[in-house]
Amino acid sequence: MSDLSEVKPSSIAHIIGQSHVKSVVTVALDYAHQESKKFDHSMMLGGAGLGKTALSQIIAQEMATDFIDLLGQSINSVADLNAVLLSAQDRSIVFIDEAHELSKSLQTTLYLALDQRKILVHGGSNKAPISIPIADFTLLLATTDEYLLLQPLRDRMKLVLRFEYYSTDELSLILKQRITGLKWEVDDSVLHQIALKGKGTPRLALRLLESAHRVSRSLGDQDITQDHLQRACDLEQIDELGLGPTEQKYLQIISSGPTRLNVISSTLGLPSRTVSEVTEPYLIRSGLIAKDDQGRRTITAKGQSHLSDQCHIEEQK
Ligand SMILES: Nc1ncnc2c1ncn2[C@@H]1O[C@H](COP(=O)(O)OP(=O)(O)O)[C@@H](O)[C@H]1O
Ligand SMILES: [Mg+2]
Repeated sequence: MSDLSEVKPSSIAHIIGQSHVKSVVTVALDYAHQESKKFDHSMMLGGAGLGKTALSQIIAQEMATDFIDLLGQSINSVADLNAVLLSAQDRSIVFIDEAHELSKSLQTTLYLALDQRKILVHGGSNKAPISIPIADFTLLLATTDEYLLLQPLRDRMKLVLRFEYYSTDELSLILKQRITGLKWEVDDSVLHQIALKGKGTPRLALRLLESAHRVSRSLGDQDITQDHLQRACDLEQIDELGLGPTEQKYLQIISSGPTRLNVISSTLGLPSRTVSEVTEPYLIRSGLIAKDDQGRRTITAKGQSHLSDQCHIEEQK
């Protein structure tokens, strides 16, 4: 096996971190098994790459049932939704990623279908709609913003699983687990360096591992060294903390004093919403920037020291 995605975690015991989510899911699985019931409808909350899809696949495996994998934005009409609901069997796991992309009217159709265990299909212009029963499946909704889901739909989700960002040690363990499965040779110190640049997110850490592996193999090497990792970071244009070019430029912009969001976004050439939803969250979470009373963005002492470290590194190159 040489592909990173071929050695995904395959049982709940392989999931590293997320202890609260794991406890809730373990109780729900044991309950379902003891009572011979389906797994309860659940809502998974948290940023991209934290393991929502991986956990959903594991739930399907533990329940020994089929896994129907969908994306909110690919369900555009009642007919699309009906096709999904009709394809599910009793106990199937129907996973809808980015569920907040479902229109309000589809969310309504969905919770009514869950309540009534049937759907209405319109036969023709003057024919009465016919109702078709649907199976007793499990709905798993994943979203980054629960408040974009209608309250009645949220209320029908019996379990709420909140995914947290991972610590550096947890990311190191995830990387270690993955390289063991792949039989790649990587020093613990290199894994730790990758974990530090992973922004608390397994997908990002694994992506950097893959990138360093690509560099190593491109040179005909077997193991992954600090030099391979450095080259991978240069290619990916990420710095010591895993910040990309936009985040680095953001820090430079605000380093001269408190700055308004609209000024930052026009300097970066990005919509304000992208800056506040994509660029800023990690910078805030990691304490590199803060907002003042008037909502202006300021650089923290930590942010300032990161910026000067990067300047020294650039000068030494
Ligand atoms: N807790 C974990 N332990 C081990 N691997 C994980 C964990 N969380 C995520 N991963 C891995 O990280 C990658 C991204 O996870 P994914 O489930 O696709 O995230 P999401 O659906 O939340 O965007 C996958 O390769 C997954 O196997
Ligand atoms: Mg996903």
